[in-house]
Amino acid sequence: MVPPLPRIETTEMPATGSASLPDADPSTDADHDPFAGFAPALDAVREIAGAYLAGLPERPVSRAATLAEMERALDGPLPETGTDPAAALREWFERAEAGIVASPGPRFFGFVNGGSFPAALAGDWLASALDQNLVAWASSPAGAQTETVVIRWLLDLFGLPPGWDGTLTTGATMANLVGLAAARQWAGERMGFDPAADGLSGNPRIPVLVSEVTHASVRKALATLGLGRTATIEIPAPGGVMDPVGVRDALARLDGPAIVVAGLGEVNTGETDDLTAIADARDDHPHGVWLHVDGAFGLFAALSPRTAGLVAGVERADSVATDGHKWLNVPYDCGVALLRDGASARAAFAAGGAYLAPGTDEGPAPSGLGPDMSRRMRALPVWCALRAAGRDGYREMVERCLDHAAGFAAWVEATPDLEVLAPTRMIIVCFRVAPPGLDATTTDALNRRIVAAIQAGGRAFVSGTVWDRKAAIRAAFDNWATRPADVAILQAAILDGVRRQS
Ligand SMILES: Cc1ncc(COP(=O)(O)O)c(C=O)c1O
Repeated sequence: MVPPLPRIETTEMPATGSASLPDADPSTDADHDPFAGFAPALDAVREIAGAYLAGLPERPVSRAATLAEMERALDGPLPETGTDPAAALREWFERAEAGIVASPGPRFFGFVNGGSFPAALAGDWLASALDQNLVAWASSPAGAQTETVVIRWLLDLFGLPPGWDGTLTTGATMANLVGLAAARQWAGERMGFDPAADGLSGNPRIPVLVSEVTHASVRKALATLGLGRTATIEIPAPGGVMDPVGVRDALARLDGPAIVVAGLGEVNTGETDDLTAIADARDDHPHGVWLHVDGAFGLFAALSPRTAGLVAGVERADSVATDGHKWLNVPYDCGVALLRDGASARAAFAAGGAYLAPGTDEGPAPSGLGPDMSRRMRALPVWCALRAAGRDGYREMVERCLDHAAGFAAWVEATPDLEVLAPTRMIIVCFRVAPPGLDATTTDALNRRIVAAIQAGGRAFVSGTVWDRKAAIRAAFDNWATRPADVAILQAAILDGVRRQS
């Protein structure tokens, strides 16, 4: 039981100054409770969301609504007059429903999405209701400390050193940005300038080594930070794995500090870089290297003895990005930036303002390590998910996802006319349909048609991609709720697609 808070006797509050309060506005007079609207609005969301969530296992997983359909359903002039909040909510859902994708459901294997544990969703709703602003300690001591605690819990979950810093972001793209902003700050200071204060213009270029298959979000972050989307030193990645000797050779050609970006979980295949070999190359570079690791989903491989070896060496990184809204199964949006030492990130994102000056006896400002100032309490859904599932629950979920991926990959290998295009190391299976006798162009076109047909069919959702210059299909198994029966439906949808499109 939560003990009741002491009651604040509002009638006894002293009026400030000599002026008395103005006459009450009739719309906010004592008889009108401005908070009375919450209960019916929240009842409505509970009813709509409850029905949606209960229907997820059976709901068509994708609705291929067209732009014209969505425009017809949703476009319209700004309403001149208002309506009841619950009615507004119901109206939106009815208008938009044809375009809602059941991506949190158990048969969505596209991209790398994940779903939402019940505790995580509930925590997210509560975070919205409490509406805390995690800009400063004083604006939410509970929120700030919760974020500190979930960062500690996540470090523990991943087996990373307990003394690391971290911050929650909107996703792995922003977590990559945090790590790379810290890296930029560290490298600039080593080169004799302060990137955050002085900017990059007129200063020496900071070399950034990336794998040729580095994720688009890394390039987006590099572009945002002025380091250059393509002004990178590209390291070959045969089979999707960055060549550590290539890293070593490229570093040997540099006579100053550098940033190396490695990956845990290539998005098409789940392949991981050899972090131990890359960290060794880093250690041997006499001018210093900041090693950043994009572990958007791959970091979770640390939870299973089957895959823990894939992340060996991650503890030697300077910064690691991962996602909450993927394999952690908390709702969008949530990412995690983890930093061996937060000093460079703090310098990169420092923001002054007399009104933000900390008072005495305050804890850290949760916005200090990232690009936002005002920010929502993303820590609460993460806290609830970790509290409700515990380490055991997460381990068990990771094992289940690995089983689904391994079982599905074995099925692909055993099925005539299907072929796996890369080893399945984790939760992504990259494969294609390749009947004998078809040329490369026809095979590519067939695979694209099959992906489109599966998506339109609504039974399961997979993404198309290109791997090894071949049109391919990829399925990601990181949803907590997927059962073997869902994987069987995916298999049936693929076989149907092959039959109808061949
Ligand atoms: C390896 C990798 N890095 C980064 C990202 C970007 O993550 P987000 O979309 O959460 O920003 C993804 C997304 O799939 C990814 O797979």
